[in-house]
Amino acid sequence: MKRLEGKVAIVTGAARGLGAATAARLSAEGASVMLADIIDGEATALALREAGHQAAFVNMDVARREAWSDVLSDTASRFGGIDILVNNAGVFRPANIETIEMDDLLDVYGINLFGPLIGMQAVIPYMRERGAGSIVNIASNATSFIFPESISYGSSKAALASLTKTVAVHCGRQGYRIRANSIHPGPHATAMMGGDPSGLVQRIPLHRMGQPEDVAAAVAYLASDDAAFVTATELFIDGGMTVA
Ligand SMILES: NC(=O)c1ccc[n+]([C@@H]2O[C@H](COP(=O)([O-])OP(=O)(O)OC[C@H]3O[C@@H](n4cnc5c(N)ncnc54)[C@H](O)[C@@H]3O)[C@@H](O)[C@H]2O)c1
Repeated sequence: MKRLEGKVAIVTGAARGLGAATAARLSAEGASVMLADIIDGEATALALREAGHQAAFVNMDVARREAWSDVLSDTASRFGGIDILVNNAGVFRPANIETIEMDDLLDVYGINLFGPLIGMQAVIPYMRERGAGSIVNIASNATSFIFPESISYGSSKAALASLTKTVAVHCGRQGYRIRANSIHPGPHATAMMGGDPSGLVQRIPLHRMGQPEDVAAAVAYLASDDAAFVTATELFIDGGMTVA
């Protein structure tokens, strides 16, 4: 039996990049997957269905509170419940403390922080109904560094890591079998990063950029019962960059 057989997952920002690789990995491990994104992800979901998996796409802006209740109820009625939420959608807008525009800051917080918060609040009743659940939030190894030009991104991801632990401890103490963990990728070769413009590979002990599949494998682990005793943890997928 596959590790995620019978499980239902929602992955946000799943049309491309780390989210698409995560949707593919969760599918390959047996989960039914709802792919959510603000851009069109029908083709990504279709490729999974053509490979014999249960997958669907829904257009969604994670920062819109009202969107969550519709997406969760659609997912539960289509696939029978919700066991896994992967808050992966995220944006980066360069600015420092002197150049940041408040509207931009609120946009970034809306997508990177408030979206996951609303999603976690809304998914807990579904997971309680199933008797268990796993929430995986995609933060960044930027939580360990200070990049002055990354003021909104860095602070949103640091807050997301803290929020994740808060939810994990709350759920544990309430007696819910709902785990919450954050993943902290280093530089990965996606549209968000482009190539390696700042020579970051030099700083990575494993001498390469991450591939989306590296993060996808970590999500599958945290989503599965192999991580049954893992909650409120930060898992760095960065080739050792943070400690080097
Ligand atoms: N690529 C990296 O090096 C890297 C490093 C650390 C963390 N991350 C994080 O990993 C996650 C995925 O990043 P990626 O590299 O795949 O980037 P990406 O830009 O390729 O993909 C992000 C996806 O999120 C979607 N999205 C953006 N705003 C949205 C919204 N409001 N509602 C729904 N979907 C929305 C985008 O349309 C896109 O499909 C992000 O949270 C990012 O911060 C990436």
